[in-house]
Amino acid sequence: MDSIQIDGGIPLQGQVRIQGSKNAALPVMAATVLINGRCLIENCPKITDVFQMQTLLESIGCRTWWEGHSLRIDATDVYDYRMPREAVKSMRSSISLLGPLLARNGEVFLYQPGGCVIGERPIDIHIHAMECLGVDFEEEEHYIHGTAARLTGANIFLKFPSVGATENAIMASVLAEGDTYIYPAAREPEIVALCDFLRRAGAIIEGDGTELILVKGVKTLHEACFRIPPDRIVAGTYITGCMLAGGSVFLGDAPVAQMAEVIKAAESMGVTFQDNSEGIFVQAPERLKTAGHIITGVYPGFPTDMQSMFLAAMCVADGKGILTEQIFENRFHVVDELRRMGARIDLRGDSAYTDGVLTLTGTDVHAEELRGGAALVMAGLGATGHTVVTGCEYICRGYENICRDLRELGARVYSI
Ligand code: UD1
Repeated sequence: MDSIQIDGGIPLQGQVRIQGSKNAALPVMAATVLINGRCLIENCPKITDVFQMQTLLESIGCRTWWEGHSLRIDATDVYDYRMPREAVKSMRSSISLLGPLLARNGEVFLYQPGGCVIGERPIDIHIHAMECLGVDFEEEEHYIHGTAARLTGANIFLKFPSVGATENAIMASVLAEGDTYIYPAAREPEIVALCDFLRRAGAIIEGDGTELILVKGVKTLHEACFRIPPDRIVAGTYITGCMLAGGSVFLGDAPVAQMAEVIKAAESMGVTFQDNSEGIFVQAPERLKTAGHIITGVYPGFPTDMQSMFLAAMCVADGKGILTEQIFENRFHVVDELRRMGARIDLRGDSAYTDGVLTLTGTDVHAEELRGGAALVMAGLGATGHTVVTGCEYICRGYENICRDLRELGARVYSI
């Protein structure tokens, strides 16, 4: 899918089921490398990031196959600790294999990962966590070579609670000798999902979801089955779709408990919610109010992955607003494109200052990254006339079928 066309201005009405979480699925897939056998990952989203991780796993000797939305991974014959350069360069999440490969093989060759334009995205915290566990690294021209005769439990202090580094520290320490404390650990729900999977496989982990995680090393892990929880960012995306287009929608399986800050911000803009055991009902107001000041932060703060969608919503809210990005240093790529749709945004440092207009105007815009691309589609839902979003291969990295989902909500959205 190259482009998406949106015929805007139609209030949403309907219901859609939220897909499995990308950010939970990727580390769980990587963690199967720790297990000498077969695992079953249910409710796994069929998105390009997952397909790329599948390719990476196959390149090191795993066998993988789909059964509907269940992905089976057999890591019995992992034989390689080098990942193909192209796969690594195109996907940041390849870094998730650092911990598992070191735990499994005691050695890893890793090309500097790529993936996104949203910032520098260094890997120093990952490297530091591995070094604490006894890994020696040598930096060659384009790749990093890590070796460890054995991994030993340690106290790992992270200079920032990085999600990926916390995941790598957990995955490397589950098979280490002795206890590992990780502090301050990321508290994102995806960390808890990874630990739930590993506990099913026999790992001993305590404190996930808090800033102090204890991993008690075990000798081996065994085969396990795990269901990927629903994607809180996809649910949040469709909430902003409803905010921009107006109307009311029901989001089946939305992980409401993980979305407190997003729901709070939307409520401050006039959205009303009603949740039950099956999902959440979203009702947009006639006109959005400004949210005032939204600041992204680590979980349970406002998610950086929702920033560009709320920026789009703030552009049509009544009044002035500010969005401050605290996690990634270069995450305002969508600003120029929103301006082309008539948005009034002033960008200063790490903050975007909005002055809401009544409506955006459809035009041709280009996605430069995953969540920014989704934000442009949401903006198109509320814009007058046609919006064409190009660069949609980024959107496919995280949304299984955004056009199908939005059509279920009554939108006129087509891939072209
Ligand atoms: C994960 C999510 C991503 C989300 C982000 C923050 C996945 C696959 N991706 O990304 O969608 O936006 O969490 O919630 O789960 N940093 C360093 N050194 C490091 C690692 C990170 O300086 O070694 C910095 C990053 O540049 C960034 C900040 O820490 O500024 C947060 O990054 P991190 O929490 O690691 O995010 P990811 O795991 O890459």
